[in-house]
Amino acid sequence: MIRVVLLISGGGSNMRALVGAMQGDHPCRAVLVASNDPMAAGLAWAAAQGIATVAVGHRDYGHDRAGFESSLLEQVLAVNPDIVCLAGFMRILSPEFVSHFAGKMLNIHPSLLPKYPGLHTHQRALDAGDAQAGCTVHEVTPELDAGPILGQARVAVLADDTADTLAARVLAQEHKLYPAVLRRFAQGQRSRLDWG
Ligand code: GAR
Repeated sequence: MIRVVLLISGGGSNMRALVGAMQGDHPCRAVLVASNDPMAAGLAWAAAQGIATVAVGHRDYGHDRAGFESSLLEQVLAVNPDIVCLAGFMRILSPEFVSHFAGKMLNIHPSLLPKYPGLHTHQRALDAGDAQAGCTVHEVTPELDAGPILGQARVAVLADDTADTLAARVLAQEHKLYPAVLRRFAQGQRSRLDWG
């Protein structure tokens, strides 16, 4: 059984999609859902599924990012994960933290990387007049949103799209792409999946 830790910051809809997929003959199981926000709605949902949860509230640490990360690291390492999935995790992790999970940490990002790392991806795609938008699952490396790409799903940008309507269509693709990439990754496949 391949042990997966999921890191979330909010509703955790990607985490829910991943947990939903990790059943039956899937090689992975969720062993911990951790959040930097004790109020993250995804924590209660995961606990109700019988998954261990933990919150390490980043606000409790003020500007002490190293202290926050070392507490989070301790919690994650304690469950001995094989794979760590960032699933709507909205804190930037230091190279030191990332180095503990080299080659075994994944992230989903709501743009067609290398376009639009960081925030406000959908508005930036609209402002640029892009014909397509989408999402990317990639390996996490020390540089933000820049690790090897494992999969992308594309959607057409519609004439009347707002950042919200575009985000909703991309999110629906995220929920399919991330579980598919995780399954392949767990089986040792690193070739890129391209949809749409
Ligand atoms: C998702 O769209 C995810 O791609 C994005 O946050 C949303 C979280 O939704 N992640 C990032 O922007 C990471 N920089 P969720 O909590 O419902 O999965």
